[in-house]
Amino acid sequence: MEYLFLLVLVLSLWTGSQSESVNHKLFKTGSDDFLISLSTDGTYNISVKGKQWLSSAPTYFNSDNKTFSAADGSLKLLESSASSGTDKIGDWQSQTYLYQTVDSLAVKITANIKIYKDLPIIIFQQIFNDGANWTQGENYEDICGGFPGFKMEGQSGNLGYMSFGGLMVGDTNKHFGQWYNGTSQINEGIAGGPLAWFDIDGHTIVFSPFNNFMSASFSHDKDVGGYYYGGVMGGVYSIPAGHHQDFILYYGVGVNKAFEHWGKTLRKFYGKTLTEQKKDFTITHLGYWTDNGAYYYYNTETGETYEQTMYDVKNYADKVKIPFRYIQYDSWWYYQGVGRGVKTWRSRPDVFPDGFKNVTQTLKLPAAAHNRYWASDTTYAKQNGGKYDFIVEKYKALPVTKQFWVDLFTEAKQWGLILYEQDWLNVEFSGLQALLHDLDLGTQWLTQMAEAASESGIYIQYCMANPRHTMQSLLYPAVTQIRVSNDYNPGGDQWKIGISSILASALGLAPYKDTFWTTEKQPGNIYNRTEPNWKLNAVVSTLSTGPVGPSDMVGATNVSMLMKCCREDGVILKPQYPIRAIDAQIIGEAFPYSGGPGGEVWVSYTQFSSLKFANILALNIGQGYSYTLHPKDTGIYSFKEGNGDLYAVPYDEPYGWVQFSNLYGIDITGVFTPSRIALYHVSQAIPGWFMTTIFGELDKWAPMSPQRVVSVSWTNDTVTAPLIGAPKETFNFWYLLGSKLDAVTCQLSINGTVMFKMDRDLGIATCQ
Ligand SMILES: *[C@@H]1O[C@H](CO)[C@@H](O)[C@H](O)[C@H]1NC(C)=O
Ligand SMILES: *[C@@H]1O[C@H](CO)[C@@H](O)[C@H](O)[C@H]1NC(C)=O
Ligand SMILES: *[C@@H]1O[C@H](CO)[C@@H](O)[C@H](O)[C@H]1NC(C)=O
Ligand SMILES: *[C@@H]1O[C@H](CO)[C@@H](O)[C@H](O)[C@H]1NC(C)=O
Ligand SMILES: *[C@@H]1O[C@H](CO)[C@@H](O)[C@H](O)[C@H]1NC(C)=O
Ligand SMILES: *[C@@H]1O[C@H](CO)[C@@H](O)[C@H](O)[C@H]1NC(C)=O
Ligand SMILES: *[C@@H]1O[C@H](CO)[C@@H](O)[C@H](O)[C@H]1NC(C)=O
Ligand SMILES: *[C@@H]1O[C@H](CO)[C@@H](O)[C@H](O)[C@H]1NC(C)=O
Ligand SMILES: *[C@@H]1O[C@H](CO)[C@@H](O)[C@H](O)[C@H]1NC(C)=O
Repeated sequence: MEYLFLLVLVLSLWTGSQSESVNHKLFKTGSDDFLISLSTDGTYNISVKGKQWLSSAPTYFNSDNKTFSAADGSLKLLESSASSGTDKIGDWQSQTYLYQTVDSLAVKITANIKIYKDLPIIIFQQIFNDGANWTQGENYEDICGGFPGFKMEGQSGNLGYMSFGGLMVGDTNKHFGQWYNGTSQINEGIAGGPLAWFDIDGHTIVFSPFNNFMSASFSHDKDVGGYYYGGVMGGVYSIPAGHHQDFILYYGVGVNKAFEHWGKTLRKFYGKTLTEQKKDFTITHLGYWTDNGAYYYYNTETGETYEQTMYDVKNYADKVKIPFRYIQYDSWWYYQGVGRGVKTWRSRPDVFPDGFKNVTQTLKLPAAAHNRYWASDTTYAKQNGGKYDFIVEKYKALPVTKQFWVDLFTEAKQWGLILYEQDWLNVEFSGLQALLHDLDLGTQWLTQMAEAASESGIYIQYCMANPRHTMQSLLYPAVTQIRVSNDYNPGGDQWKIGISSILASALGLAPYKDTFWTTEKQPGNIYNRTEPNWKLNAVVSTLSTGPVGPSDMVGATNVSMLMKCCREDGVILKPQYPIRAIDAQIIGEAFPYSGGPGGEVWVSYTQFSSLKFANILALNIGQGYSYTLHPKDTGIYSFKEGNGDLYAVPYDEPYGWVQFSNLYGIDITGVFTPSRIALYHVSQAIPGWFMTTIFGELDKWAPMSPQRVVSVSWTNDTVTAPLIGAPKETFNFWYLLGSKLDAVTCQLSINGTVMFKMDRDLGIATCQ
C-alpha cells in the first residue's frame, strides 16, 4: 500500500511540464526523508523531510590549463543515462552524466550519482575516462574540478553546519554556522575536512570524500553567492585515465548518530575494525609522557641526563605505587637536522649514555616514541650517503620504499618500541612539493609506514593529522589512535575534545587528549604555568577511551586522584564508547537561540546486555543560559528509557543520587567551571526490580567499565556481575537495592576475579 503510493509519487514527479526538454526524476534513498531530484541536464537538488536543503552548483573540470564549466557551456553534456546494480555497500540506482571539454583535446569526464536503495547514502563520482593533463587549480588549496557542488545562497529554511579543518583531526579550525552565502566560514583546501549540515531538530547530512582521501579536497568559491565543491586536490597536474574521486553524502537523525553511521559505512567498506585498538597496550594501560606540555619536555632533573631522569620517574612511581606500564619519549632523544626535522632516528649518547635498549630494559617498560618530518639532510637518504630512496627537497624529505620503514621499525623493536607516534603529519604533507602535486604519493607514504608497522607488530598514533590523514587511516589496522586537540599547555583548554572525538571515533580511532599534570603547581617547569584544571584533564583523558599519559614532575603526582583512571595493575578503566559532545551543544553552536547548553555537555557510556551506564560531564555552562539535561538529550537513552528507570549519581557524592527522567532532568546551569566539574554517572534500573541498579566503583571516573565489570545479568531473584582486576585488588562497589543506596567491599581473588551479587529475597548484596 505504502509502496504503491510511493511509486505513484515518483512517477508524478518525473517532470513538471511535458513540453520542456529537461526531465526531472526524484530518487528515494534508504530513508524516506532523504531524497535527490536529478535532471537530465546534470543539475540536482537534495531535500530532507520535504525541504530543499541543497541545490547543485555547476559541474566543472580543469584540463589543458583551462577550466571547463557546465555554466558557460565549455563543458558539454554528451549524454545522461540511468542504470542500477549492487556493490559492497548495497543496491544502487544511478544517473550517469558524460561530459566533454569543448576544446581541441575534447577530454571526456563522467559525473556519476549513485543512490542506495536501502541506505541513506548518495555517492558522487568523478571519473576521468581518458585522464587529463594540466589539471591544476589556481593553487594547491584549490581543486582540479568540482563535482559534487552545492550552492550556498537561496536555500529555504535554516541550515546549520559544522565544518572540520586544520590539524588534530580537523579540530583546530573547526567552524559552526549557518549556510548563508560566501561569508559562511567553511574549511577548504589541504587542511579542510568533512562537513555536516543539520537543522535545529538534528536531521543531518555528512559530506566527505569516499576514496583517495590523501588527494581529495574541498573548495569554497566565495563569489557568486558561494559554491562548495568536492574535487581532486588542486596541486595535481595530471590525472590518469580511469581515476575515480568519490564523495559521500550520509543522512541520519541526530548529528552524533549521523557521524556514527557514516563512520560505520566507511569502516565496513575499508575493513577497519576496533580489534587492533583493543589490543594496543598503550591504549589499554597507563603510561608516562614527556611530550610538549610535560614537565620533562626538553627538560631533565637538575644536572642529570635524560636517562637518569627517566630512572627517577620510575623509582618515584614504584615508591608511591603508580603503575606506569610504558613511557613515551618525545622528540628530544633523536638527531635533528635541517629545520629541526629528523636527521637520524636513533638515540643520542648525551641523552641516553647507555643506549635506548639499555634504558627500556633497566626500566622494564616498553617505549612509545615520537617522530617528526624527515629533514633534507637525513642520513637515511641515498642523496646523503644513506641506503634508501628518498625524495629530497630543500628542507624536507620523504622515504619512498616500504623497506625503509621495515628496517626502521625492526631496529626500534629491538630497543623496545611498541607505539610509533608519527607527529607533524600536516607539516610533512604541506612542506613537500612532491606530496602537494602528486595524486598517489601521500597514500604511498602512509601505506608503506602502516604496512611496515603491521608486519613489525607495532601500533601507530597519528598526531597533527589533517582530516585527510585521519580518513586515510581507514585503510590501516596499525593506526589505532590519534590526537584530537592541540598540544597540552598547563592551564589551557586543549581538554576540549568533545567535538573532534566524534570524528575520530566514527573512523575507528581512539581519541587522545594528550598529556596532563595531576597537580596545580609544579615548581621549575619550563612553561612558567600552573594547572588549576588537573581534575578535569584526568577525567577527560580517562573517558576519552584513548591513552592516559600524565607527565608530572617527580614527587608531584596526586596519586589517589590519578588512580581514579585505573586498576592497580595500570589497566585503564574506560567507558565502552568515548565521551563526546551532545547534539544540543553542536546545534547550539550553529543556532545560538536553539536552547542548547551554551557550554560543554559530553556523554560516554558502557552497555551490558540491554542496560546502558552513562557518564555525563558538564562545564562552562552559564552566561545567561539555563540548562536542564534530560535523558532524551543524551543521545544514549530512548525516550521510553528516560521515563522512570534511570538514576544519576554525582561522582563525588553517592548519597546525592536522584531519579533522572524526561520529567526530572539534572539542572547543570551556571555553577560549573573547569576547576569545578560536574560529573554524573547514570545507571539504568534492573528490569522487573523495584528501584534497583548498580552504580559500580564510584571511586573511579568510569565506575562501570568493562575492564572491571565483565557482565551484568539478572533473574527475578538475583542480579550478578562478575568483576575482574589485579590479584587481591580491593575496592568499594555501590548499588541501589529496593531504593536503598549502599556499597559492598570487594576483594578480588588471587586470579583477579570476584562475583558481585544482589539477592531480592534477602535484600542484600555480596561480593565474594
Ligand atoms: C532544483 O530546484 C530549483 C529551485 O527550487 C528548481 O528550479 C530546479 O528545477 C530543481 N532541479 C531539480 C533537478 O530538481
Ligand atoms: C600550462 O601552463 C604552464 C605554465 O603555466 C605551461 O608551462 C604549460 O606549457 C601549459 N600547458 C599547456 C598544455 O598549455
Ligand atoms: C596526458 O599526457 C600524457 C603524457 O604526455 C599523454 O600520454 C596523455 O595522452 C595525455 N592525456 C590527455 C588526456 O591529454
Ligand atoms: C550573507 O548572509 C548573511 C546572513 O543572511 C548576510 O548578513 C550577509 O549580508 C550576506 N552577505 C553577502 C555577501 O551576501
Ligand atoms: C645498562 O648499562 C649499564 C652501564 O653500562 C650496565 O651496567 C647495565 O648492566 C646495563 N643494563 C642493561 C639491562 O643492559
Ligand atoms: C612566571 O609567571 C609569573 C606570574 O605570571 C610572573 O610574575 C613571572 O615573572 C614569570 N616568570 C618568568 C621567568 O617568566
Ligand atoms: C588530590 O586529589 C584529591 C581529589 O581526588 C583532592 O581532594 C586533593 O586535595 C588533591 N591533592 C592535591 C595535593 O592536589
Ligand atoms: C518473574 O516475575 C514476573 C512478575 O513478577 C513473573 O511474571 C514471572 O513469571 C517471573 N519469572 C520467573 C522465571 O519466575
Ligand atoms: C579464579 O578463582 C575463583 C575462586 O577464587 C575460581 O572460582 C575461578 O574458577 C578461578 N578462575 C580462573 C580462570 O582460574
